[in-house]
Amino acid sequence: MTVKTSAPGKLLLMGEHAVVYGYPCIVAAVDKRIYIEAKWSDNNKDKVIAPGVKNTVFIDMAIKVMKEKYDITQESELKTLSDFPPNIGLGSSSASTVAAVKALATLFNITLSQSQLFNLVHTIILKIQKKGSGADVAASVYGGVVYFKSGLIAKINIPSSFSLIIGYSGSKADTVSYIKKVSQLYTERRKEIDKLFDQIGALVEKAKKALESNDMPTLGTLMTQNHQLLQKLNVSTPQLDAMVEASLTAGAWGAKLSGAGGGDCMIALVSESKRDKVRYAIEKAGGRIINVSVDKRGVR
Ligand code: MEV
Repeated sequence: MTVKTSAPGKLLLMGEHAVVYGYPCIVAAVDKRIYIEAKWSDNNKDKVIAPGVKNTVFIDMAIKVMKEKYDITQESELKTLSDFPPNIGLGSSSASTVAAVKALATLFNITLSQSQLFNLVHTIILKIQKKGSGADVAASVYGGVVYFKSGLIAKINIPSSFSLIIGYSGSKADTVSYIKKVSQLYTERRKEIDKLFDQIGALVEKAKKALESNDMPTLGTLMTQNHQLLQKLNVSTPQLDAMVEASLTAGAWGAKLSGAGGGDCMIALVSESKRDKVRYAIEKAGGRIINVSVDKRGVR
């Protein structure tokens, strides 16, 4: 028997970093996925073949944890395929772990609810990277746009006028080192950073309302304000700032970096009439457009 699963990558719409400290964020699943094929191994060894994934530590850990938890002694073989490269910050580690755990559960004949799957994957990821909110995992499991706070998940309907342009800055950021960087800042300047997080949290709550009421201009303004607070957290880069600035000058409703910062991608919220102009502006500022859109489908 071969089990086939897939899980989507993600984009952080609002609230990155603060979400690690218990504040809310809004995260979206995208139409770029990681696929896993799992079967029982025929050579007494667990085997992972993962050309599209940065490294296999997350999948290796998924196999270890799942075998221990469900008392499985038989070996398995997992093969991955990916719609997107691991180095652009779309959450390939979380998506591959979600797809792997779902595949293993199916192979082991175990039914997991979405929240059980979320909790299991979050635990596996924390075993490796120690810190992390689980927001990426929530997007991969549930799909669509998710309001996420300390493991609590509420889906938000995607308004018809919601349209993003994604620009890749050309450099890869290491999420864990940026989480550590913020954590160090938090230790050194706790009062100030607490205030920043409070402000980010308040923007996220307003953004949720703006999304729910299909108010894109307001959402855009909130995204830009979120970017300014992320600059204060020292996680933006001159390249990301240039792309954000270029999008705004070209008429985007708002723009911000997306994810841990230090590179990876930025997102711009645009009206249909401004799409081409904003795309061009991002490219002119040195970015590469990534053709990605928000997708309702979670793990399958
Ligand atoms: C990374 O995609 C988002 C961060 O907030 C980390 C996390 O939520 O675990 C920077």
